[in-house]
Amino acid sequence: MSAATGKKAVLQLDGKEIELPIYSGTLGPDVIDVKDVLAAGHFTFDPGFMATAACESKITFIDGNKGVLLHRGYPIDQLATKADYLETCYLLLNGELPTAEQKVEFDAKVRNHTMVHDQVSRFFNGFRRDAHPMAIMVGVVGALSAFYHNNLDIEDVNHREITAIRLIAKVPTLAAWSYKYTVGQPFVYPRNDLSYAENFLYMMFATPADRDYKVNPILAKAMDRIFTLHADHEQNASTSTVRLAGSTGANPYACIAAGISALWGPAHGGANEAVLKMLDEIGTVENVAGFMEKVKTKEVKLMGFGHRVYKNFDPRAKVMKETCDEVLGALGINDPQLALAMELERIALSDEYFIKRNLYPNVDFYSGIILKAIGIPTEMFTVIFALARTVGWISHWLEMHSGPYKIGRPRQLYTGEVQRDIQGR
Ligand code: ACO
Repeated sequence: MSAATGKKAVLQLDGKEIELPIYSGTLGPDVIDVKDVLAAGHFTFDPGFMATAACESKITFIDGNKGVLLHRGYPIDQLATKADYLETCYLLLNGELPTAEQKVEFDAKVRNHTMVHDQVSRFFNGFRRDAHPMAIMVGVVGALSAFYHNNLDIEDVNHREITAIRLIAKVPTLAAWSYKYTVGQPFVYPRNDLSYAENFLYMMFATPADRDYKVNPILAKAMDRIFTLHADHEQNASTSTVRLAGSTGANPYACIAAGISALWGPAHGGANEAVLKMLDEIGTVENVAGFMEKVKTKEVKLMGFGHRVYKNFDPRAKVMKETCDEVLGALGINDPQLALAMELERIALSDEYFIKRNLYPNVDFYSGIILKAIGIPTEMFTVIFALARTVGWISHWLEMHSGPYKIGRPRQLYTGEVQRDIQGR
C-alpha cells in the first residue's frame, strides 16, 4: 500500500479550497489523490493519461528520464543477461526469482501445458490464408475463453495461477501456428524436451519433411533474450487495456485477446514490423537524408524512435543492440539493412530536430533486425512481442484480482450538442 506523506495539494475551486492528499510509492513521483474533485462537481482532464496513475502496482518501475526499467526491483539488463525468460516470468508473477527447485517445478508446469485442445486447431481454418497473424492471434487467444470459462472461478487463487501458466505455455503454440497457417504448412506440435525459446523456434521452423530439424542455440539464446526484454512494461496501452477489461470481471483469456488488439497498433507493438517496412521503403543509405527531411516536415514518422515514457534512452534498446551485434556476428550476417539502420540512428542522434524532442531509438528499432536474422518473417514480429508480453499482462491481471479493485470507468469533457428536441416529427 502506498504511504500518505502528510503533504497536501490545495486546489482553489469556485472560491473554495479543496485539500488533496499526496501519497508516496517506493520509487517515482508522488501522486495527488484527485478523487475529492468529484464531490466538488468536477472531473480531472488528462487525455492520453500523461499524468495519471490509474492503479497501484508492485511489478515494474520505469524512470523515463534516467532510462531505468526494473522488474520487481531488478534492472532489465541484469535480467536479460543473468536470468532466462521463464525465470523472469516467475519473478513477474511471484515477486521473487525462483530458487533452483522452484525453477525446475515452474519450467515443468509450463511444459505440461504447451498443448492446446485439439478443437482449437480448427479455428484456424476459418481465417483467410493471407490473414495477418496478429488477426489470427486476437481470434484464437480469445477463443481459449470458450475452453476455460464455466469451470473457471477468477476469485479462486489456484484458478488464477493455472490461468497464468496456461497462457504462458499455450501462446507460443498458437503464435507458431498462426505463422504455419499463413504459409500453408502443417502445424508442428510442441516438444517438451526443449527449452521455451527452442520449442517456439522448433514449432515455427520444423516441418514433417525435416524430421531432424535442430534449433540453432545462438538463435534460441537471442530469442529468449528478446522474450525477456519484452516481458513487461508497466501500465502501457496494452497492459492498461488488459486491466480495464479485467476490471469488469471478464474471462482472462478474453482480456489477453484485448491486450493483443491494443498491442497491434504501429504506435505500440506494431512498431517493430513498421521499422522493417520503413527500412525497405528507404532502400539504400543514399536515400536516408531525403527520408529525414520527410520526417522533419512530419510527412512520416521515424519508426522505432521515441517513447511516451523514455525521454533519454530506452534501456531495453541498449541490451537489444548488443544482442543484435552478437547475433549478426555469430551468424556472419552482413545485413545491408543494418547499415541503413545504423545510418538512420547516427543522423537522428546528432540532429537538432531529434535532440530537441528527446527522440531516441526504442526497443523495436533493433528487435526487427535480430528477428529478421533469426529468420522470422516481418508479419510475425508483433506476434512475438505479444507472446513475450503475455506474462506481463497476466501478472497485472493477477495483481489486480489479488486485492480490491474497481471497474475502470473514465469520464469525459463533453463538447457535443446540448439537449434539444427532435423537430418536425
Ligand atoms: N519520428 C519523428 N517525430 C517524432 C517521433 C518519431 N518517431 N515520435 C515523436 N515525434 C515528434 C512528434 O511529432 C512531436 O513533435 P512536435 O513537438 O513538433 O509536435 C514530438 O516528437 C513529441 O511527440 P509525441 O507524439 O507527443 O510523443 P508521444 O509520447 O505522444 O508518442 C510514440 C510516443 C507514440 C511512441 C511516438 O514517439 C511514435 O509514434 N514513435 C514511432 C512508433 C514507435 O516506434 N513506437 C514504439 C514505442 S515502444 C513500444 O511500444 C515497445
